[in-house]
Amino acid sequence: MKPKILVTGGAGYIGSHTCIALHQAGYDIIVFDNLSNSSVEAINRVSNLIKTPVTFIKGDIRDRASLQKVFIEHSFFGVIHFAGLKAVGESVEKPLRYYDNNVSGTLNLLDIMRAHDVKNFVFSSSATVYGDPDVLPINENAPRSATNPYGHSKLMVERILEDLTSADEGWSLVTLRYFNPVGAHVSGQIGEDPNGIPNNLMPYISQVAVGKLAQLSVFGNDYATPDGTGVRDFIHVTDLAYGHVAALDYIQQQDHPTGFLPINLGTGKGSSVLELLTAFSEVSGQRIPYQFAPRRAGDIASCYASADKAKALLGWEAELSIKDMCADTWRWQRLNPNGFS
Ligand code: NAD
Ligand code: UFG
Repeated sequence: MKPKILVTGGAGYIGSHTCIALHQAGYDIIVFDNLSNSSVEAINRVSNLIKTPVTFIKGDIRDRASLQKVFIEHSFFGVIHFAGLKAVGESVEKPLRYYDNNVSGTLNLLDIMRAHDVKNFVFSSSATVYGDPDVLPINENAPRSATNPYGHSKLMVERILEDLTSADEGWSLVTLRYFNPVGAHVSGQIGEDPNGIPNNLMPYISQVAVGKLAQLSVFGNDYATPDGTGVRDFIHVTDLAYGHVAALDYIQQQDHPTGFLPINLGTGKGSSVLELLTAFSEVSGQRIPYQFAPRRAGDIASCYASADKAKALLGWEAELSIKDMCADTWRWQRLNPNGFS
């Protein structure tokens, strides 16, 4: 029998791509999502791409009764937990909403998992837990800090997972710290569909390229980086999806160490804002107007991963290039100028 995985937040950007990778790798998936930041159309398209209907349950991780029901009806090998809110600016304005969704929701889920003796957990953490790093590339032992409620919520969950593993060694708690996920499925059928004007660089660039936005503001050109603009570790969402499969495969090995296991998912390579812009322009053939603007509050100069642990432990490494990330984003954007709607 195929191992069954509950995918919370599976209708979202990273979750939908991961559902495809999980199906291809032989996992049976059940998606649980309240659609607060996604569309059921993403699930329909995943079903079409994998030629198998995805079992989808509309529900909220904070709602005990509906989660209980799912655990009574299904016998899970483990849970991949994407569900959560992720907009840094909004988290500053609505901290309670973020702590409620990201922390209380996760506590609820973990408690129900414990009650049903499901102790394999893959958590969506973020490079944001490293704050402003002293040393690059960033490895998993770097000090952690956060500067906004979103970051704090990720740190709090990491702390909860660490305490949980001290209390009960039966848990396998793989904490994947994503760097900057970008790109879309190669089919152009699913991709990132931000609400309103995008905050993040790649969706902003692609909306300028398709003519929905007039020009990009490049936040800061006086950083201590090769071209003065911010440097990030952009990682293709498809590579990221395979990272989740590798994490589950690892947990399935009988003699794997249990406990809290933080792992970076990045390429190990930094690219600047201008490098990404230039690559996108070349790949798409579009002129992408931009202007330099002041630094964005809270931004750091450079952030990129040491990806060694993921390779050593999971046998996983990112394969797709910046060009692939741009080409796939552009295909998704051109085919779906209004996202899923
Ligand atoms: P997303 O918003 O596209 O997906 C999250 C999904 O969770 C959405 O479908 C949303 O409807 C669902 N959801 C939110 N709250 C819920 C709740 N209470 N109950 C049930 N479902 C709920 O975001 P994403 O980019 O796919 O991110 C997935 C995870 O990865 C998040 O936890 C995010 O914090 C984390 N992460 C994302 C990035 C990034 O840049 N995209 C970087 C680091 C970490
Ligand atoms: N940038 C611009 N113009 C824009 C948007 C972004 O110049 O319109 C610049 C930023 O200043 C930064 C770089 O592009 O230098 C990347 O910015 P993003 O907003 O795309 O990504 P961040 O690195 O700020 O943050 C992202 C997620 C966080 C997550 C973090 C690490 O938004 O939630 O990656 O995973 F925590």
